[in-house]
Amino acid sequence: MAKGTGQGSGRRSATDLKVRVKTAKGRKIGSTLWLQRQLNDPYVARARAEGYRSRAAFKLQELDERYHLLRKGQRIVDLGAAPGGWSQIAAPIVGSTEANPLIVGIDYLEMDPISGVILLQKDFNDEDAPAALIAALGGHKADLVLSDMAAPTTGHRATDHLRIMALVELAADFAIRVLAPGGTFVAKVFQGGTEHELLALLKRHFATTLHAKPKASRADSAETYLLARGFKGMRSRAGPGAVAAPIRVHSPVTPTRLLIGSITP
Ligand SMILES: C[S@@+](CC[C@H](N)C(=O)[O-])C[C@H]1O[C@@H](n2cnc3c(N)ncnc32)[C@H](O)[C@@H]1O
Repeated sequence: MAKGTGQGSGRRSATDLKVRVKTAKGRKIGSTLWLQRQLNDPYVARARAEGYRSRAAFKLQELDERYHLLRKGQRIVDLGAAPGGWSQIAAPIVGSTEANPLIVGIDYLEMDPISGVILLQKDFNDEDAPAALIAALGGHKADLVLSDMAAPTTGHRATDHLRIMALVELAADFAIRVLAPGGTFVAKVFQGGTEHELLALLKRHFATTLHAKPKASRADSAETYLLARGFKGMRSRAGPGAVAAPIRVHSPVTPTRLLIGSITP
């Protein structure tokens, strides 16, 4: 496959398959199909050839090409960073270096280091995760909050949906508290759910919101990306020094939390 053809595997028919995987003893049909899809996925091949850790890297690359998200000198938070494709794409563009790291990533999975990126191995649901991220940002506000987080599925549709939405809402709540005015929030969401409340919240805090599905996102996947740009800034009604109230999206399933720690502009 030629470099950069931009054809997602989900758009290919079964007859396009180059590698067919035989069912091996003990391997479930689902695993066989997953392996077959990986072996025939041009983005997997491209990621390997270009030294990216994940095919997901091309999703951010494509979103950046279309919406100019990444700029030199930006501070970025990468939520659900492992194995590191998005941080790999962003670091050279923003000019994040060992001496002046501008990107902070978090994931509960262990990750190999990425030059110029501070990586926290931690669950974003942990009470102290936002404070840890803010501390790693050196107390500075962020220009871009990225969330590619996806909760592991249980197989129970309703539960899975609530867990996924809870993560996105937590990410949005964090973004609203940590972004500098003018900042951007990008999050993976899943179509066909209770998204309107989240969208309403983002519309209140950002100048524009839109959905985008990069070609690198499999066509048969319900995932899409929500982009909220032009953050309007946090206004505290109670005056300086006051702690802002937590933002609720749709509790009680998704209780949001107060951030601990202070942010300097
Ligand atoms: C699709 S992958 C991210 C791929 C990444 N953007 C890349 O380019 O390599 C989703 C990640 O979200 C992480 N994740 C899911 N829930 C999380 C949580 N509660 N806290 C931290 N990371 C989480 C998973 O461990 C997984 O590594």
